[in-house]
Amino acid sequence: MITTYDVFVKPTMGMGCSKRIGIDLAKAGHKKAFMIYDKGMWDFGIAEPIIKNLQAAGLEVVTFDGVLPDPPDEMVEEAAEKARNAGCDCIIGLGGGSSMDTAKGVNVLMNNPPPIRQYFGVRYDLKPGVPLIFIPTTSGTGSETTNMCVISCVSAGNKASVVSAATIGTQCYLDAELTMGLPAGATAATGMDALAHATESLTSGQQNPLSDAVAREAIRLIHKWLPVAVADGSNREARENLMYASYFAGMAFTNALVHSGHGIAHTIGACFHVPHGNACTMVLPEVIEWTAYNEAHKVRQILECMGVDCPEDMPKEEVGALARKTIRDFAKSVGMKGPDKYGISREQLLSIIPMIMQDTGLALSPHRMASGDLAKILGSAYDEML
Ligand SMILES: [Fe+2]
Repeated sequence: MITTYDVFVKPTMGMGCSKRIGIDLAKAGHKKAFMIYDKGMWDFGIAEPIIKNLQAAGLEVVTFDGVLPDPPDEMVEEAAEKARNAGCDCIIGLGGGSSMDTAKGVNVLMNNPPPIRQYFGVRYDLKPGVPLIFIPTTSGTGSETTNMCVISCVSAGNKASVVSAATIGTQCYLDAELTMGLPAGATAATGMDALAHATESLTSGQQNPLSDAVAREAIRLIHKWLPVAVADGSNREARENLMYASYFAGMAFTNALVHSGHGIAHTIGACFHVPHGNACTMVLPEVIEWTAYNEAHKVRQILECMGVDCPEDMPKEEVGALARKTIRDFAKSVGMKGPDKYGISREQLLSIIPMIMQDTGLALSPHRMASGDLAKILGSAYDEML
């Protein structure tokens, strides 16, 4: 199969590397930055030093601190108007996936008129924006290295994505110093989201040699370091390796794509208000087991990266079952909880199957997932996480 790896966001890496941003942007000739974050970034003392760093390098900084989870289109349009009116020559997204998605959406609207909903889909016809810089503050979404901008459309009541050159970052700062204060629960959930990106990419059937390589490395790093960071959030080595794992997993899925695990998790999240990483974790073991049907060699690689021996002659059904148990045990070991802990009954979980069947993520599955498969996956996910 001939493939091209075509999305690459230049990373600057290392503890404290975000302190380079002012010098880097000044060197590149920028004069006025538009910085996007949520109020928590200010309250936790993360936004202010970066603003001061930019100002010390001679840049003017215009801020938008109103980022909401699942960024609504109207909010993105409001932020973009502010950036355009101020004449900003670069955009900085600081925070988790929502801040980075907002920054991508604003960049789309820098040189293309609103509303943003008219640009949903893969677009090759959009005018480029301005240089776009990401500073992730969690290790999970991988949004800093993907070309997908996920926006909630308020009028339609759904989520959709813009994929274009304007949503690809110019540079990102992988500074794990900014994740040191993340509580254990959020560390586990975001790390499991990255594990879902890596394992789903590896088994998507659309992978290429580079996406495979970075996916495997992400799995190894998460398997080794996530339990360490959950047990001791002050472990710098663990935090740093998880930041890189998230970036690698993001690289993998921006090329190979995630599939049914994310498709199911989107519906669980929307119906029962379960945070994204937690929803992904609920079904990831069964989804990877299911991919062993025609991607058994890749499921073997997942097991190998998680330190489990898997003989070459093991039947694919057994490979799948072993992967299900390995991933679930790992999820439990970092404190992840099952659907019942979110007040969801078995019947309620099974009742969303028709909605899951409508999710586009399901269409990306390596082989067709029927409603009977979904019933087995959700039933097992519920029972094994009790
Ligand atoms: Fe995800």
